[in-house]
Amino acid sequence: MARREKPLILVSPDLSSLTKMMANDFIDSAETAILERGRFAVALSGGSTPRPLYSLLASKEYRGRVDWPKVHLFWGDDRCVPPDSESSNYQLVRKTLLSGIDIPEANVHRMKTELTPAECADDYEKTLRDFFRLTDGEFPKFDFDLLGVGTNGHTASLFPHSTALTVRDRAVVANYVDDPHPWRITFTVPTLNSARRTVFLAGGKDKAEVIREIIFGQQRPSDLPAQLVAPEGTLVWRIDQPAASALPSER
Ligand code: 6PG
Repeated sequence: MARREKPLILVSPDLSSLTKMMANDFIDSAETAILERGRFAVALSGGSTPRPLYSLLASKEYRGRVDWPKVHLFWGDDRCVPPDSESSNYQLVRKTLLSGIDIPEANVHRMKTELTPAECADDYEKTLRDFFRLTDGEFPKFDFDLLGVGTNGHTASLFPHSTALTVRDRAVVANYVDDPHPWRITFTVPTLNSARRTVFLAGGKDKAEVIREIIFGQQRPSDLPAQLVAPEGTLVWRIDQPAASALPSER
């Protein structure tokens, strides 16, 4: 049963300090996972917010603090566009992170968005089941799942009122959404809720209202799919002060 208590909300003064705190969270989580299990399986998100995080992790100051050959990178969602498209979440990570770190190609598990949406989802379902050695009814247990949130309450590519919101028998699925890139591949709710550590990363005043609604508002997950993220593991919101500006003072 997914938990329902309020998540930990960590507020940084601005995007720059938020990015540094997030980078240290990633590094610490990687160290713990590698110590405990010999590897760090992480699912990355797309969008604009994590871009400075990926660049910072690839920087001279930070890249040596992660044992990259023991890291396995996955994506929690991607758009069904060519992998070299500027709109691809894989391309975002390739340009900002992969180009700066020494990680084996075999450890980079991108969604093959050059396939049809259905073929891509099936291919990634197999990738996850093989990597995590899953039996029927089991879901991948990521050490770390990095999520963003849209102003419409979506996370990964679980958009309001989209068919993927109710899928419980697959780890990843194709989803047609209300967006300029309508065909998406996304983790399903059971996958998101299996992670050991889940961190929402959000910044900017434009996210303030939706973050308050998601965390403190009425439960209405069809309108606010990020409310479906209630993992057994740790759930943290890492946001900057502008994004926290609508939160109740008593929380
Ligand atoms: C995507 C992302 C998506 C993103 C949010 C927030 O493919 O668009 O994975 O879930 O995290 O849309 O995006 P911003 O960081 O650009 O606000």
